[in-house]
Amino acid sequence: MSCYEITGGRPLSGSLAVHGAKNSVLPILAACLLVPGQCVLHNCPDLSDVSATIDILRLLGCRVDREGDTVTVDASLLSRSDIPDHLMREMRSSVIFLGALLARMGAAELSYPGGCELGPRPIDLHLSALRSLGAEILEEQGVLVCRSGGRPQNRELCLSIPSVGATENAMLAACGCPCQTTILGAAREPEIIDLAGFLRRLGAQIAGAGTSAITIQGGVPLHPAEYRIMGDRIAAATYLCAAAAATGEVELTGVDPDTLTAILACLGEAGCTLHTGPDRMVLASAAPLRGIRPVRTAPYPGFPTDAQAILMAALAGGEGSTLFVENIFDSRYRHVDELRRMGADIQIAGRAAMVTGVGKLHGASLRSTDLRGGAALVVAALAAEGTSQVSGLRHIRRGYQTLDRNLRALGADIRELP
Ligand code: UD1
Repeated sequence: MSCYEITGGRPLSGSLAVHGAKNSVLPILAACLLVPGQCVLHNCPDLSDVSATIDILRLLGCRVDREGDTVTVDASLLSRSDIPDHLMREMRSSVIFLGALLARMGAAELSYPGGCELGPRPIDLHLSALRSLGAEILEEQGVLVCRSGGRPQNRELCLSIPSVGATENAMLAACGCPCQTTILGAAREPEIIDLAGFLRRLGAQIAGAGTSAITIQGGVPLHPAEYRIMGDRIAAATYLCAAAAATGEVELTGVDPDTLTAILACLGEAGCTLHTGPDRMVLASAAPLRGIRPVRTAPYPGFPTDAQAILMAALAGGEGSTLFVENIFDSRYRHVDELRRMGADIQIAGRAAMVTGVGKLHGASLRSTDLRGGAALVVAALAAEGTSQVSGLRHIRRGYQTLDRNLRALGADIRELP
């Protein structure tokens, strides 16, 4: 089993271009199914989740080619509308194929999606949104059998939680319904705006993405298009937290700082100096990080659940206390036991975690249990005294392209051991 060996305590410095957003490219790849033609996507990160999505597209009959960070998807000829269980289990976002297949093929057959273990991750909102759009959905021995149907009529569907995945599924399915759909209580994440941007490039009529009411006029003929995926705000947050904890000065390009407002505010409060410009930010950190006001995860524009573990890892080796409250997922503190091995003082009570900075963490042998939790261990190890081994790289590779190489370029002592 390979692992990263990291010797902490080296300041980070230099400039890094952040790769395209995982949470954007996956639904956009699925959306390529809507067009009987060839779409070209730029800034596609090379991640295992992207490879798994491409495997699904190929299985459905698409021709997919990658050259550098450009992926071409030709969905002219689709041969099937079912996805086998082993591919569905690879990641959570495979569920987005439900809406895309319903829109293009009028049918979909797939099992429940996999993904990081963060506690229960139901898909009831996805299914009820699609049913509101007229889909018939049956469950037969763990397989969801879905057909589009119902009379085309203007519809309003309301999400009780602003679920990112359910909003995306509803947007894709609505493109295939020859009527007007309004999604109320929609997620407002930047990745939703990116998906709407791509769909509009295909010719879809969508208004309101980025607000909680999205309107889609479906049934409009779509045509092939070229699109550039937005930068990954969570990868950016990871590099910022690494520099904040390990000290130094790092410039990131390719990500809109406006998508990171909640994280930048926390890092500023913890004592970092920040400068931002269009698609660029610079963070400088000198002294140990200070404790900050409570960090409560919330749907966008609140503090992202995906950055909770990463910021916690940075603050655990700082000074002062910070209360974290995880409001999105039930079981998203699995990194805490690993951070404790490094000497972290973190007390968990239900959704809350009280972090008391211990000044400096020490190196340890660590295991990633999920994607962002794994990235958090890397952040902690970069700032810790001594050497750490972080195993479970398959989790990290789901969302970070060449994490070790990028950190080495910034001066970190990190290498992959077979
Ligand atoms: C969530 C994050 C997203 C992150 C992703 C991976 C939020 C709002 N969403 O997206 O930013 O990139 O995890 O870590 O922070 N829910 C249901 N029923 C459903 C769907 C969701 O109850 O059918 C609940 C979930 O359990 C969760 C909340 O709604 O408590 C938000 O889930 P959702 O946004 O769908 O999660 P992801 O799309 O996986």
